[in-house]
Amino acid sequence: MSETSSSDAVAHLTAEAAAVELERLAHEIIDHDARYHQQDAPTISDGDYDALRLRNQAIEARFPDLVRSDSPSLRVGASPSEKFEKVTHAIPMLSLGNAFSDEDVTDFQVRIRRFLGLPKDQLLDIVAEPKIDGLSASLRYEKGRFVQGATRGDGRIGENITANLRTIQNIPLRLSGDNIPDVFEVRGEVYMAHADFAQLNINQEEVGKPAFANPRNAAAGSLRQLDSKITARRPLKFFAYAWGEVSEMPSQTQMGVLDTLKGWGFDVNPLIQSCPTVDALLTTYQGIEAQRSSLGYDIDGVVYKVDRLDWQERLGFVSRSPRWAIAHKFPAEQATTVLEGIDIQVGRTGALTPVARLAPVTVGGVVVSNATLHNEDEIARKGVRIGDTVIVQRAGDVIPQVVGPVLDKRPEDAVAYEFPKLCPECGSHAVREVNPKTEEFDVIRRCTGGLVCPAQRAERLKHFVSRNAYDIEGLGAKQVEAFLKDGTIDGPQDIFRLRENDAASFKKLKDREGWGATSVKKLFAAIDDRRKIGFDRFLFGLGIRHVGETTARLLARSYGTLDALLIAMDKACDRESDAFKELIAIDGIGDVMAGAIVDFFNEKHNRAVVDGLVAAGVEPQELEAQETSSPVTGKVVVFTGALEHMTRSEAKARAESLGAKVSGSVSKKTDLLIYGPGAGSKLTKAQELGIALMTEADWIATLEGK
Ligand code: IVH
Repeated sequence: MSETSSSDAVAHLTAEAAAVELERLAHEIIDHDARYHQQDAPTISDGDYDALRLRNQAIEARFPDLVRSDSPSLRVGASPSEKFEKVTHAIPMLSLGNAFSDEDVTDFQVRIRRFLGLPKDQLLDIVAEPKIDGLSASLRYEKGRFVQGATRGDGRIGENITANLRTIQNIPLRLSGDNIPDVFEVRGEVYMAHADFAQLNINQEEVGKPAFANPRNAAAGSLRQLDSKITARRPLKFFAYAWGEVSEMPSQTQMGVLDTLKGWGFDVNPLIQSCPTVDALLTTYQGIEAQRSSLGYDIDGVVYKVDRLDWQERLGFVSRSPRWAIAHKFPAEQATTVLEGIDIQVGRTGALTPVARLAPVTVGGVVVSNATLHNEDEIARKGVRIGDTVIVQRAGDVIPQVVGPVLDKRPEDAVAYEFPKLCPECGSHAVREVNPKTEEFDVIRRCTGGLVCPAQRAERLKHFVSRNAYDIEGLGAKQVEAFLKDGTIDGPQDIFRLRENDAASFKKLKDREGWGATSVKKLFAAIDDRRKIGFDRFLFGLGIRHVGETTARLLARSYGTLDALLIAMDKACDRESDAFKELIAIDGIGDVMAGAIVDFFNEKHNRAVVDGLVAAGVEPQELEAQETSSPVTGKVVVFTGALEHMTRSEAKARAESLGAKVSGSVSKKTDLLIYGPGAGSKLTKAQELGIALMTEADWIATLEGK
């Protein structure tokens, strides 16, 4: 402590002097932290360091308005809050597609070359990065200062865990260096190293708390503490590897940005490498895998990313994953144990899934006592019998699987399993439907009980309240199951009548076990909050067979409102109708899906649910026009002829990213035909129908915003 100002009594400081000193202390303490934690080379004694922090604290106590967002005092943790606030990610946090084999990696590279239409001699650098097994987080920096940090959440909305992230020692509170953009969101993985994990578990046991199953769980548990003082005591670390909203990109390549992040003070994984060929990628993969057990932290694969950022942008996204990146997973970890029995689970769509009941065994650090057997053909193919010793495997976060029996160890009394032909939950017939396309039996046996089957009802409701559907705070799978069991609710619509039904009931929710006046009040508020819901979530929540989030969004965009969709679905009962043709003309909706959608809306139980929801006050909201407004936003677009400047898949993807619906055929519904050389019948038809036309050159100009 050399500066004279440090010895000035805090009581005599003017606000101006205090601000100057707080800034100096913030920098000085952060530097000492770095020397101590990252460089293992402290330059002051612990006593002097403590004195700096105390002075910082004393000045802040006198001038609370001057507390800086990068203040060292915030690293120790703020007071507990009720729950985390939500943060909307300006740029969604996506997940990655998987590659499991060398061929998958080759395919990935071929796909990219084809999409971009790269000539043979054009090099394509791909960056290989270890896939850290932790939790992703997004850190927002404004003018170089850490202002907000969030979890991934559902990818669009995460939780505000700023206070907790501030406690992580290798997350800079201020970026160092020049030319820091005004806004930069750094994304990466929060993880716990093996040694720290082992020590944490020893400490946990000493204080009589349960041990964590693996470092990832420990990291998750630590990061989601409401009291950041607890997080501060947990040894978390951060690797930076991506970014979100950015006011100005510091580089044109993935490698370049990673180097910049390093310069700003982030830890970037040292094993990251740029590879010019698939062979180089696979060699890097093997090299990283060989070091896996000695790294000191968990990784579960290698992520490949196209290095050039302009190409990343052109490649864009499919659903929730980028086309320009993929995760090459390490092979699964295996163990052997005894198959004690097979249980049948009945899913939302009535599918009967056999689940192996196993003698508990540790596979890759996690205790496994159940594993999926997929379906009856798989049981036959694997030839497993009850009583067999079986090989179980776990790959990443997927459900454990039974690989097969160890025949040498088969006991004499091992019995073959007979798959039930009746639903174990409701006794209805369980059948294997014939697929109209292949004319073969479906591999899945399904309960025919529909909503009569309690298991299907429960699963549908769980889906209804799940994260990507209604996502009602305080109403998860557990609560739904309990409510169904005691008759509080029967179907989705009852959720939205819970308040009025509870008011009329003798047995109040607040008096039930696990509930109280406050939690009930919160639940009702959370339910009210969801009465206005995006039309896409509304549709996804219905649990229509084959309709995932992407299709739900397509339907929501194509039909706009529930009324319009219902009218169309009534007409589409007739498979020859225009309404049905329009449904299958939506790019991304095929025959089977279209059939399932029409069947769903024409089944009276389902219609009752839809009507019931509306009657109970649910109002699906038309999706907002996509932010990117361009001449093709919201239009039905058809491409025809040869495009000379981009591949057809790129053209389609770009149009969709601008909010267009791309269709394969010209009809009255078509708004715009974009044509290249050699256009034939589609162009003629469009001209006859008076549809707007655009040349490829105009299309490129539109993309460039001209
Ligand atoms: S990139 C759009 N790079 O893997 C690309 N992810 O399956 C977003 N992860 O949610 C991710 N290491 O939690 C990327 N080097 C790395 C990664 C990585 C670990 C995690 C991350 C992500 C998940 C995707």
